[in-house]
Amino acid sequence: MRRDGCGELRREAAGRKVVLAGWVHRVRNLGGVTFVDLRDASGIVQLVLRNGAHLAHEDVVRVTGTVCPREAPNPSLPTGEIEIEVAEIEVLSRAKPLPLPVADEGSPSEETRLRYRYLDLRKPRLQRNLRLRHRAALAIRNYLDKQGFVEVETPLLTRSTPEGARDFLVPSRLARGSFYALPQSPQLFKQILVTSGVERYFQIVRCFRDEDLRADRQPEFTQLDLEMAFLEDPEELFPLLEGLVAHVFREAIGIEIDLPLPRLPYAEALARYGSDKPDLRFGMEIVDVIDLFPKQSVLAVLQDKIGVARALPVPGGAAKSRSQLAKLAEAAEGQGLDLLAWVKLSEGISSSLGKHVSAEILTAIAARAGAEQGDLVLVAVGEGGVVETALGDLRLRLARDLGLIPRDRWSLVWVVDFPLFKEGEGHLDSEHHPFTSPRSEDLPLLERDPLKVRAKCYDLVVNGVELASGSIRIHRRELQERIFRILGIGGEEAEQRFGFFLRALDYGAPPHGGIAFGLDRWVMMMAGEPSIREVIAFPKTTTGACPLTDAPAPVDEGQLRELGLRLEP
Ligand code: AMO
Repeated sequence: MRRDGCGELRREAAGRKVVLAGWVHRVRNLGGVTFVDLRDASGIVQLVLRNGAHLAHEDVVRVTGTVCPREAPNPSLPTGEIEIEVAEIEVLSRAKPLPLPVADEGSPSEETRLRYRYLDLRKPRLQRNLRLRHRAALAIRNYLDKQGFVEVETPLLTRSTPEGARDFLVPSRLARGSFYALPQSPQLFKQILVTSGVERYFQIVRCFRDEDLRADRQPEFTQLDLEMAFLEDPEELFPLLEGLVAHVFREAIGIEIDLPLPRLPYAEALARYGSDKPDLRFGMEIVDVIDLFPKQSVLAVLQDKIGVARALPVPGGAAKSRSQLAKLAEAAEGQGLDLLAWVKLSEGISSSLGKHVSAEILTAIAARAGAEQGDLVLVAVGEGGVVETALGDLRLRLARDLGLIPRDRWSLVWVVDFPLFKEGEGHLDSEHHPFTSPRSEDLPLLERDPLKVRAKCYDLVVNGVELASGSIRIHRRELQERIFRILGIGGEEAEQRFGFFLRALDYGAPPHGGIAFGLDRWVMMMAGEPSIREVIAFPKTTTGACPLTDAPAPVDEGQLRELGLRLEP
């Protein structure tokens, strides 16, 4: 007889004889009758056993029985209107006492969860996450296939690709003393594929970065990487990408995204939200208030130091106590702000600036920030850049604190016009990577005022998380070499590290551009999970370890000798 899925049986099946198999999810003994929740990949169903079988959590059993309507239906289960009157039960495999609960969340440590990942993954929540990930990947492939994209695999044993992290290295046995690097991204291969005539490339691909780990970072993670020929402006790519994003949200979680997505220049994102990845699910926009302070200001505290003064409205924030606000100010001033003052609108207006600033100015600050009775306004003074970032951090922290972030809203925005370079140690660094094209009108500034050069570069920011990042690329060798020079990569070094790529630009390279999405992050957000570890089957801990296999692990002397390696004591 064919096996039925536990989660598929409904009232209409009443009276049917069925064979089921699965894991014992829960067991309750009630006066000689045993009720078992049986779980398989399709869901959970209640079994009724009258022969007193001894079952433990996670035993694997097969039963034959009859579907019966339930006297007391359980509305929280899709199969809650029926139960299975069991005639025969066979234990296929016994489970020892469990090191972590499967039927309940419990609070096992990360280490325990990952060591016994095969148990952890049995939880319905994680099963749902794996399926969601599968649906997202399928939706991506279907959409891009229809748009004429070809999925091409690129090497994992390769050379370093500069994406700003450390490389994972693999020693070569055949070329002793030489190493492969695992790719931080397929960046150069995808650009070479476009010059090879693959006009629309994509790949769902593993990338490797040896960097500090966080909730949204793993040392190996998955990108949806794509690239297209004959693009010279980001706007030529956005409609296709927006279609893709909307398709995936719809297919994976049934959410409709409003298109087109807004574009926000980098400088404006910093000024208004204090971040290049602003969370736009809520307001709390930063406003400039410097002009509200009179020139001959009596702000003794600020003396003549005023660089910029910006204000952040905090809805409902007037309830914060003076000591809470003093702590905020202390922390902010520790991070390089000259001053963090507050203006409170409750029963009139009060402020930590009270003695130095007139009531009219306080009222003007509150009005500029759009604050109303019950609100708080924070005023930060200090060096430009520092002020915005500090207020950006406070904006997020206070919004979380005060529950001002709507959980059911999605905010998607293109952040555009990033600077091409940033200040590095002793030289300039790329803000993204060295293959990003400058905006044509900024080319004359390249050597003269490089920090002013804007890039044809874009990030897709979703609910304050950088989901994807891409750019129009440099497709002319001269310009690529010029950028390398500005980055302090001389001719010889450029040849040695990137000669293979520069040569590929010599033989007819079309203008091109692309993007890479963090697939783990995308699925994490759609699943409503706080960490990408919840949507990766076998993730690493925050120290880069895999407790299941105990990787990384030492290797024996012989293996090292073969590779020509010796460990320092
Ligand atoms: P970038 O380095 O911004 O761009 O990476 C693209 C996206 O990949 C995700 N991501 C990560 N996810 C999990 N763990 C990590 N350690 C991690 N690092 C990055 C992020 C990020 O937005 N080659 C370029 C793309 C391009 O220009 O086309 C690149 O890799 O979601």
